[in-house]
Amino acid sequence: MKKVITYGTYDLFHEGHYNLLKNAKALGDYLIVGVTSGDFDKNRGKLNVRDSLMTRIKNVEETGFADEIIIEEYFGQKIDDIKKYDVDIFTVGSDWKGHFDYLNEYCEVIYLDRTKGISSTEIRNTNTIKLGCHGVEQVTARFLEEAKYVSGMDTGAVYVENKPDYLDKLVEDYELKVYPDQEAFYDAIDAVYIVVEPKYQFQAIMNALKHKKHVLVEFPILVTDEQLQEITYLADANGCIFMEGLKTAYTPAFGKLIALAKSGIIGNILSVDANFTQILGKQLAEQIRLVDGGSVNALASYPFLAFVKFLGLDYKDIQFFSRNDDQGLDMFTKILVSYENAVATSNVAISGKSEGDMIISGDKGYIYVPAPWWKTEYFEVRFEDLNMNRKYFYKFDGEGLRYEISEFIQCILNKKNSILLTIEEIRAITKMINQFNVANKVTF
Ligand code: CTP
Repeated sequence: MKKVITYGTYDLFHEGHYNLLKNAKALGDYLIVGVTSGDFDKNRGKLNVRDSLMTRIKNVEETGFADEIIIEEYFGQKIDDIKKYDVDIFTVGSDWKGHFDYLNEYCEVIYLDRTKGISSTEIRNTNTIKLGCHGVEQVTARFLEEAKYVSGMDTGAVYVENKPDYLDKLVEDYELKVYPDQEAFYDAIDAVYIVVEPKYQFQAIMNALKHKKHVLVEFPILVTDEQLQEITYLADANGCIFMEGLKTAYTPAFGKLIALAKSGIIGNILSVDANFTQILGKQLAEQIRLVDGGSVNALASYPFLAFVKFLGLDYKDIQFFSRNDDQGLDMFTKILVSYENAVATSNVAISGKSEGDMIISGDKGYIYVPAPWWKTEYFEVRFEDLNMNRKYFYKFDGEGLRYEISEFIQCILNKKNSILLTIEEIRAITKMINQFNVANKVTF
């Protein structure tokens, strides 16, 4: 019996997939189809797969060509599968020509003609979501660069109240169209990425929602709790997604880290210590303008995200110890948050430096996430008995913003707010920052 194996994502199942499977089956007597898992696709940089694994498997099954369906979960699995299933022929479409020649060592490799004029990417790119940028800051270039990796979206529209000097370059580099007035801008888009100073934030968000546009706000969200409630109410009423652009929340490794910490592997979590410090130098004034404040406003969203994820929403008390500049802005702040059964600390600074790592301590062990923990791609679980220590590696591509953008698009398509950073979690993070802004601060 001649055994054939082929692999694919089979997202938004189309004619090209059907033909490929039909031709693959015709190569032998028994066809094994490997369908990629969501994690594996993310790992190999394939973001924005629309259909769930179950749907993709079901679609392959319904063709009737597959005698067996397996799941592809890791790099190098193809060799393992070929040996395990005693495969005679490995086949894929001609778009992969040459790529799998190394498998010739294990079986025959055949590249089948690809069906012309159709692909999952093309289908994803019809009915693209038009995403505009309200406000332009340094982060915008990174955002637009990363957006290139996410299919199903078109970024081109920009609306700015104040034109920064680098706007012209940005317009040229990313072929942007700057809209002179807000109405025309909203008419041209489905969703908006908002990066404006806190004093304009609430108005900008509400305006977008009134125009029924989905909203992604670059962190930090610095509105009052009442305003946040108004925002979420209007977003729900108008069927709009509301998301905070706090990139760590959407990265693959951070998700795994939360799951692992919550699994009980380190026992009960006793403390979380997460720092985020910078010495901004020349960019200090710009950062202060952008967040209308010092280090807590600028950076504490990150450690607060960790606190909320690992210790929950209900903290008992929060204290801030700040070193201020002449204008009374905190350049360095140590934060102490107490919970019923745990405690959390963080150093945040825009003019000061600490190790940017994170330690999650438990009564059975701890998790060490090296700096910069907010761009997590590697962490270790450590125990009293060193032999039990484990290292975990995940992919973190580019600036990490692509995961956030991909999640935003996915949420819009699924008509459901993100579960990776929920509205309640955004509220808790914003509340902690607001407490700093009204607190009687301890300074040193
Ligand atoms: N395929 C094909 N003809 C097409 C599209 C895909 O023969 N027009 C083949 C691929 O070469 C591969 C299999 O179908 O062997 C599964 O491909 P997959 O990557 O899932 O589909 P694409 O449409 O190429 O997806 P994407 O655009 O996301 O890369």
